Amino acid sequence: AHQWRGVIREYFDRLPVEEGDRIISLGEGGTPLVHAPALSALVQGEVHLKVEGMNPTGSFKDRGMTMAITAAVADGAKAVVCASTGNTSASAAAYATQAGLTCAVLVPAGKISMGKLSQAVAHGAELIQIDGNFDGCLDVARKLAENYPVFLVNSVNPARIEGQKTAAFEVVDALGAAPDYHLLPVGNAGNITAYWKGYQEYHQDQLISALPQMWGFQAAGAAPIVAGHPITDPETVATAIRIGNPASWEQAEVARDESSGVIESVTDDQILAAHRWLSAKEGVFVEPASASGVAGLLKRYEAGQVPAGKTWVITVTGHGLKDPDWAINNPELQTSQGNDAAPTQVPQDVETVAR
Ligand code: F0G
Repeated sequence: AHQWRGVIREYFDRLPVEEGDRIISLGEGGTPLVHAPALSALVQGEVHLKVEGMNPTGSFKDRGMTMAITAAVADGAKAVVCASTGNTSASAAAYATQAGLTCAVLVPAGKISMGKLSQAVAHGAELIQIDGNFDGCLDVARKLAENYPVFLVNSVNPARIEGQKTAAFEVVDALGAAPDYHLLPVGNAGNITAYWKGYQEYHQDQLISALPQMWGFQAAGAAPIVAGHPITDPETVATAIRIGNPASWEQAEVARDESSGVIESVTDDQILAAHRWLSAKEGVFVEPASASGVAGLLKRYEAGQVPAGKTWVITVTGHGLKDPDWAINNPELQTSQGNDAAPTQVPQDVETVAR
């Protein structure tokens, strides 16, 4: 029987790893590409979701973290550090544990979901809450790595991008071609950079004859690339992408421009409507930020910017259980009768339950 061996072993020849390296892996990657019937019917095309919540710690970060922690071990590091809106810290904590490394995570105080926080705690990370936002955390993390013997595992580390590019390989391996369009959320902009790198490498090796257009979506309150300048006080319900000065800003613009794509913003209402669409119509439960790509498709569809007869892949980046409050508190669930997520309580009696 074949078991998926994690992205390093599956794509060894396409990654900067050496024979003999100690590979730190939790079996990441190999995530399902799920056909989305309701979205497909709407846009009269084929829409697929790359469900990255199925990774070991519940987000796409694991693809990059297997590479970053493997690199840290090869480097002889004893400790790793990252700044995070939550998912990177959960992933770093888990992989560092397997490697036997100390892991320090810097997170914006009060702005990361309980699910993600509990993962970092469970895996024994040094959890440091900073008075400030993600951008401030990343600034401190970079300076720590420059001045102290700690290894930086944010996506400014090229190993992270290398690992994350494997998601593009998997999409092509599943579809037999690149999609016409690839949509995804943009926060620190590492992932759009990584997908574009992956598609380009397959294109250079003639494994695909055409490249997709890359469509990235930032939350409207945290959309520096759309605005053309850093945002000092980014704000959005999608805390994972509450970022005002993305580290991979230029690379994201390169991906957009070389692919003739777009980077646009979606409002919190649009994000929550897409979150609800995914749960209620496709059966796919994601965290709010992860719905940004779908929000972008719906927004552009309404604007008449979505051609029929195309193939779409939308990356949904993290699992719904990371931040489950939004399933219950989603304003999309509020009806004139109140919140239809509220359970009905009845006596233990078959006839009542049946009624
Ligand atoms: N979706 C989720 C669920 C995320 O956690 C992130 C980033 C993104 C999308 C955006 O990806 O940064 O590569 O553009 N989360 C980082 C973190 C910042 O710390 O977990 P990006």
